[in-house]
Amino acid sequence: MRLDQLLSVGDFERRARSILPRAVFGYVNGGTEDCLTLDANREAFRAVQFRPRGLVGVADRSQSVELWGRKYQHPFGIAPMGVTAMCRHRCEWDLAKAAANTGIPFVLSGLSTLAMETVREADPDFWYQGYIPGDREVIQPLLNRLQSNGVKVLVVTIDTPLGANRENNQRNGFTIPFKFSQGLFWDGVRHPRWSANVFARTLLADRAIPRFCNVVADPHGYRITEEPKGGFRSGRDRLDWTHLAWMREVWPGRIVLKGVAHPDDAAMAERMGLDAVIVSNHGGRQLDGAQGSLDALPDVVAAVSSQFPVMIDGGFRRGTDILKAMALGARMVFMGRPFLYGASVAGQEGVQRVIDILGSEVDRNLGLLGCREMDMLNREFIVSKGR
Ligand SMILES: Cc1cc2nc3c(=O)[nH]c(=O)nc-3n(C[C@H](O)[C@H](O)[C@H](O)COP(=O)(O)O)c2cc1C
Repeated sequence: MRLDQLLSVGDFERRARSILPRAVFGYVNGGTEDCLTLDANREAFRAVQFRPRGLVGVADRSQSVELWGRKYQHPFGIAPMGVTAMCRHRCEWDLAKAAANTGIPFVLSGLSTLAMETVREADPDFWYQGYIPGDREVIQPLLNRLQSNGVKVLVVTIDTPLGANRENNQRNGFTIPFKFSQGLFWDGVRHPRWSANVFARTLLADRAIPRFCNVVADPHGYRITEEPKGGFRSGRDRLDWTHLAWMREVWPGRIVLKGVAHPDDAAMAERMGLDAVIVSNHGGRQLDGAQGSLDALPDVVAAVSSQFPVMIDGGFRRGTDILKAMALGARMVFMGRPFLYGASVAGQEGVQRVIDILGSEVDRNLGLLGCREMDMLNREFIVSKGR
């Protein structure tokens, strides 16, 4: 199939569903428990409608945005996603390279398997997302490694003090640490394209089981099949504001809190001198029943000063979704699954095509709204139905 026949993120999702083994697609696509938050993320967009302006003159349009003095070509970026090597061999490379080529931010997950020393060759400006334990002795060496790799933006995820209840993964036999099983083997056999790209290239060409090599300072990390000493999520449940206050003192770069849902947490982040927040519920993958991200956005924006960047992710699939968040005060929108579908279908080219689709949707709809640039967008352009 030619990539130009895939016209939307939805098309990529359907294609990825057919390529990926059921268990892997379930890992990517799924939510937790009853998927209330997964659904709420999408539902929130229906409740916000546009109120476009006419006769503005929109011949010259730009969707670029500025953040901390740096210009990005699109108002969106690639959210951190762990274990993407399950979807595509050297997936982080494809995501990072496509992001660098198109001038959007790429956030490398701490639970990735391509060493940051290599990712940096694809995108020297990658942001790093950490699952930081409440333990200074672990944090400090990690910060040193990040600094020596030129990382300037550190994203600390705060909605994952504990592992979530992902029943779909349990039903499909998908676990992290990863365990081979007969069911997974046959799932792979039924998906030969995936087996050739991921299974064969990883085990036959690399001759190694992928390792979580970016989670701590030691680049050796540990195998994705192995439970590290002290447990997989060791110490995350001890992380609190005192660690962030200390990190603010010792980390010279930007600190972004990801997974912010409550306005008071955003206000606290600003008071503490952190640099931004990302309103997020982890794509409906953590606390089920949490508010949809777009629903949570206005209160968070209202709780901080206008200079303090509020970003967002969760359920964005269309350019119009992105424009709604920007009109409500978001400075940047992140997406996870859409880019992973792109990578699963066609590696870097697939990611690039998803970026192009979203970019052209933003461009077209920005013009249809009666705006020439992102800064012209504000709440005047939207109405909320009954919320
Ligand atoms: C497969 C997958 C893995 C993820 N891994 C991480 C991770 O390692 N760290 C993190 O902060 N968020 C992780 N997330 C959450 C994303 O960063 C982001 O919040 C979410 O995907 C946004 O929702 P969307 O997929 O609907 O765009 C993951 C999401 C997916 C789909």
